[in-house]
Amino acid sequence: MAGRSRRGDNAVFKVACRRKAGSLTGEKHVKVRVEQGDIARYGADVLVVNLFEGVTAPGGGTGAVDRALEGAISKVIAAGDLRGKSGELVVLHTLGRIPAPRVAVAGLGSREGFDIDAVRNLAANVVRGLRRPGVRKVATLAHGAGVGGLDPEAAAQAIAEGSILGGYRFLKHKTANDEERAEIDEVVIVEHDGGKVAAMQRAVERGTVLAEATNIARDWANEPSNHLTPTMLAERAEALAREAGMEFEVLERREMERKGMGALLSVAKGSAEPPKLVRLGWRGRGGEGWDLALVGKGITFDTGGISIKPAANMEAMKADMTGAASVIAAAWALARLGAKVNVVAIAPCTENMPSGSATKPGDVVRAMNGRTIEVINTDAEGRLVLADALCWANELGAKRIVDVATLTGAVTTALGDICYALMTNDETLCRQVEEAAAAAGEKTWRLPMWKEYDEFIKSDVADCRNVGTGNRGAGTIVGAKFLEPFAGKTPWVHLDIAGVDNLSADRGWATKGASGYSVRALINLGLRLSEA
Ligand code: BES
Ligand code: MN
Ligand code: ZN
Repeated sequence: MAGRSRRGDNAVFKVACRRKAGSLTGEKHVKVRVEQGDIARYGADVLVVNLFEGVTAPGGGTGAVDRALEGAISKVIAAGDLRGKSGELVVLHTLGRIPAPRVAVAGLGSREGFDIDAVRNLAANVVRGLRRPGVRKVATLAHGAGVGGLDPEAAAQAIAEGSILGGYRFLKHKTANDEERAEIDEVVIVEHDGGKVAAMQRAVERGTVLAEATNIARDWANEPSNHLTPTMLAERAEALAREAGMEFEVLERREMERKGMGALLSVAKGSAEPPKLVRLGWRGRGGEGWDLALVGKGITFDTGGISIKPAANMEAMKADMTGAASVIAAAWALARLGAKVNVVAIAPCTENMPSGSATKPGDVVRAMNGRTIEVINTDAEGRLVLADALCWANELGAKRIVDVATLTGAVTTALGDICYALMTNDETLCRQVEEAAAAAGEKTWRLPMWKEYDEFIKSDVADCRNVGTGNRGAGTIVGAKFLEPFAGKTPWVHLDIAGVDNLSADRGWATKGASGYSVRALINLGLRLSEA
């Protein structure tokens, strides 16, 4: 009995330690690095090699390991137990033939269509697939850099991103046992050619920052709303800003009132928690103005307000602040990477609650730019908080604006959980965002912004209404059409991520629960603008 209670105490102690260590950049994650060496002779708990579909006699690093194992890999292929299919992971025991006790062969899929996304997803599957007590150190080939024909630096970055993103879990509130807590400590990319190592190591470091930023956004989105109120979100944002040497500012209710932010305030009215308008700035280029403003919806819980939501699945609305988390994490990453771009992240944060002081359907409110809004449905609150945040981005001198929001359930009806919707008033910025997202392995799909849709949000009593009239559909476009006048003439892209921000199962680099979609796309956009 004494032994049992001692073990119990240890478990509690461990949880407390992890929490402290992970307070800023998420829970402890796998460390990735590059080393020059010969993979077959490398000392690790597992060696990860690879195989294209249809290959019977492996070459390159996999061939070298096969020879060291006296043809064990070829024999498993011949037996039909290893086919190189994408997602496949076959673990062999080396029985003392080489220093490492295990070899894992990861399937690369078919050669056609093999790309950097496949490498990132493979690395994620490998980290999840090999997670077990006894596996702490993993050595891997730079998948795709050999016969795959991919750039070694890009492959190294993708392995770092995939390993750190794929290994993500949210265990903070769980009293998990040691088996559940088993974690891979390090992934070493073993590269034969010493001349490539330094550049690959730099790529790994870049990938690590991108993945860490994503995991921060995931942590915030997975956090229950009683552990992440607008006040607590602002505190966490301040800690990040301090760490990266960024400007930091929070507008309180009083300042919102002074600026005439009646749309944002109308959402906050029903809640006992004070709203926070959070701003982080990074002047990497120097000088005046902001090359890029990132605006993110920060509803820390969306009950719908007086237009209350049904009980089923309402708990998912703790993640109605993934837009805010994404823009803050992305700006932090750009600061950490020293990007030569002036970027500002703006996050209007509040709960959307029903109460005696809540906004009621039919109420008319006035946004910062003077535009009046008839609030037909208090559950269309995201566009209200974004309206004032977009006005503020313009007041601050934004040259381009990208907003990110879990804005409509309709986007899931249209596109499912495969891609997110993009709407814009500017062709150039649209293309830049599309390319930045594609480079992150994120699919986007553009929806139209034809003037015919303006009809949908005409009001009899105000300048506009916050939801469409009748049953005319196009809910996602209507949301964007509502936002458009608040962006004004500034080049602007609106991303509706409500279909992809929370996944029901792991999918390559994207994990179950908060997926982290849009974070690396925004970082890539900032990096592209800094090169220009
Ligand atoms: N946060 C929701 C959108 C949402 C729904 C995100 C499901 C993720 C999953 C948003 O505030 C909302 O309630 N939108 C309404 C708009 C409607 C009232 C026009 C919706 O989609 O039902
Ligand atoms: Mn809502
Ligand atoms: Zn919402």
